[in-house]
Amino acid sequence: MDSNRDIKTTPRGFHCVLCNVNLPNLPSLDQHIKGRKHQTLSTVRDTRKSQEEHSVFVSGIKPDVSQTDITEYFQQFGPVTEVIMDKDKGVYAIVQFSETQSIQAALACVEHQMKGLKLRVKPRERKEFKLIPKKKNDSQNLQQVLDRLKPELCQLASVDAQIKYIVERFQLGENEKKARGLVVQLLEEVFIEFFPESQILPFGSSVNNFGIHSCDLDLFLDLENTKVFQARAKSTTEQAGEGMSDDGRSEDSILSDIDLSTASPAEVLDLVAMILKRCVPSVHKVHVVSSARLPVVKFHHKELNLQGDITINNRLAVRNTRFLQLCSGMEDRLRPLVYTIRYWAKQKQLAGNPSGAGPLLNNYALTLLIIFFLQNCEPQVLPTVDQLKDMACEEEHCVIDGWNCTFPSQPIAVPASKNTQDLCSLLAGFFSFYANFDFATNVISVREGRALPITGFLKQNKEEEVTSEEQPTKTPHHGPKLGPLNLLDPFELSHNVAGNLNERSHRSFQRECQEAEKYCRSLQYQRKSSKGKSWGLVRLFTPHGEIPHTKVEQLSISIPFNSALLSGVVCNQSQVMGDSFRMQWFNKVCSAVEKILRSVLRCHLALSSDTAFSEDSAVDAAEKMDTTSGSLNTSTNESTESQNEGSPLGTSVVGAKRPLSSGSDDSVSPQGKKPRLARRGKPTVPHWICVQKHAVWAGRRKVRRELVKDSDSRPEGSCIDLESQVTAHITEKEPELTEPVEFKVQPQMLGGTESTRAVLKLEPTCDKVGSFHDFFHFLEAFLPKMVETIMEKEIGLKWD
Ligand code: UTP
Repeated sequence: MDSNRDIKTTPRGFHCVLCNVNLPNLPSLDQHIKGRKHQTLSTVRDTRKSQEEHSVFVSGIKPDVSQTDITEYFQQFGPVTEVIMDKDKGVYAIVQFSETQSIQAALACVEHQMKGLKLRVKPRERKEFKLIPKKKNDSQNLQQVLDRLKPELCQLASVDAQIKYIVERFQLGENEKKARGLVVQLLEEVFIEFFPESQILPFGSSVNNFGIHSCDLDLFLDLENTKVFQARAKSTTEQAGEGMSDDGRSEDSILSDIDLSTASPAEVLDLVAMILKRCVPSVHKVHVVSSARLPVVKFHHKELNLQGDITINNRLAVRNTRFLQLCSGMEDRLRPLVYTIRYWAKQKQLAGNPSGAGPLLNNYALTLLIIFFLQNCEPQVLPTVDQLKDMACEEEHCVIDGWNCTFPSQPIAVPASKNTQDLCSLLAGFFSFYANFDFATNVISVREGRALPITGFLKQNKEEEVTSEEQPTKTPHHGPKLGPLNLLDPFELSHNVAGNLNERSHRSFQRECQEAEKYCRSLQYQRKSSKGKSWGLVRLFTPHGEIPHTKVEQLSISIPFNSALLSGVVCNQSQVMGDSFRMQWFNKVCSAVEKILRSVLRCHLALSSDTAFSEDSAVDAAEKMDTTSGSLNTSTNESTESQNEGSPLGTSVVGAKRPLSSGSDDSVSPQGKKPRLARRGKPTVPHWICVQKHAVWAGRRKVRRELVKDSDSRPEGSCIDLESQVTAHITEKEPELTEPVEFKVQPQMLGGTESTRAVLKLEPTCDKVGSFHDFFHFLEAFLPKMVETIMEKEIGLKWD
């Protein structure tokens, strides 16, 4: 079997060479081999192999030779099934036969003459089929760029000089800008034929002064005037009868197929994609992405090797690009900081989602974070958007989609900043600012230039929603999608530009800022090394693996308090009751987590504490627990019981030696008190010991699909019964792990009243088969969703 040769045994389990993945044990290996990725790659490899064995490589043809010419010529050696030609230059072809003997016949022929051309025919080269992981290439590229950059940066005299060098090294050149301008002109010429009076407006990095060599070309196809044109033409046609429109253009144009005033964005974009494919030279790889927040047509320009995006409802982006241009025009230090921080974020894999979508910061969000920091420097480096609004004159007044987008059109209208800090200290200041920023309790407002407390912000949003419902003339705006990092767009105030971040990517951002802050305090940052060692930006950009560092990764899962689940009454109550309400909420989360681990995922659970844990085997503890009534309240740990009365887990933060996160973390005990060490000597840290004997995380999606038979496809974590059935199916059908995975789960409540969250710290205690990380990654996504489902559907949020 082919699969056998793909699998190698390793000290930690198995490795699939075809898919380049590690599998810790036999069940997961089995799942992997049956899985879609492995199956697809095997099929692709088999097809390629068969094609290679049935085809020959032909060169010496000319662009005017057709596939039919080649088929007809080679048919003398046997039946031809396919001819593949290189489309661009027409200099080679691959001819595929249905029988392998035909290859021998074709190769045996001494001279191939076709239409006066002398063809060369060769056997196909046998290439080993390999999966090329995209990400690796990306990081290899980054590494190569950094390797070249290092000596250049190290020889400069100061960090400021290094920062300026980064701009020179990466910024878009004049010729690149011109080439982009020509593409815009070309597109405009084509589109105006199909959409009279339309306009193509570039926005984003190509024009905002922060573009780098490979940046994409973001375009807004403005069809407002075309809509007016179409409406006018329609009424004229109705008056004059069928035939010609008012400017003499034939009704038989593309516009007659679509009514722009009623067509959906997807319909218009399909049309845009068709025009790009058929009518714009050098454009290929055209496709519509309709699932994006703003649907987009993507294309690639071959000659310029340029990726382009066209959107149609994006007037705000053109305006916020103007805003970024203004900011870079009024403050010279912004550009160097943006280039440097963008490069740092790319190196640390914090920004730049590989395929557009993903949980990392986008460059726009990162730039806004820099602007916000500069607004908060002392003295202010950049004014707030509200201050800019007041500096604008009447003609500059601008409202788009109901949002006030007013600011001066020229930097000269804005007084210069009194802040004289150099780039080196501003960069260090950026890291320090976000290393210590309390993301959990605040919403970042570039508009107001200050952090808005989250509760007040939510309240105000609710009130505004109500007002806009009552006043149908006002454009209704819903509140932003809140997440671990809340950064409001400066104009579209209902849009959180970092709403795509997850807990993990947010944590990485803050952790990297903390690391950078620490480094910026060292002499290596500020002073050039006399011994030729890395210094300044070089070490800041270097990936962690290359700098010795001892920090142990803490695996934790965060479950944020979701006020959207509460009724208005309960919501108000939550504010009045403060800590006791938070404690009730935390206890309910703990009940839900316990239920998920025990009943939904069928783990063996036991309550323990650090002191007890070192003496007892967790498996024993789990077995002991199995014989109890099932509630973790039944712990015999006296101190825990007395301190945590009423908590389902009988736990929280007692004994926590230090808060889990920096800044304003307020860990609260069940009684609403600050954490303290247990009275007698050693700290007691209550936690569950969780033992899992099956790979309940592997292949769940497939089992779920089979169970619901596609008729009622429910997302993961949305139904307790279904998830329990999925686990039952796996535990019954699949063999046990050779060794159970055993880990402790320690819940803790963090944050102040406005940012309550439950954090589960997970730590493996026995993981001989190396499955803990797989289980953790599964739980990281599964637990928060499932807790929300349980909180919503089962516990019913009865707050007593
Ligand atoms: P990008 O995040 O792609 O930024 O957003 P960029 O500066 O163009 O960087 P590249 O393309 O990654 O090099 C492109 C533009 O899209 C708009 C902004 O105008 C931004 O400049 N945008 C992006 C928004 O309006 N809102 C968003 O949430 C994201």
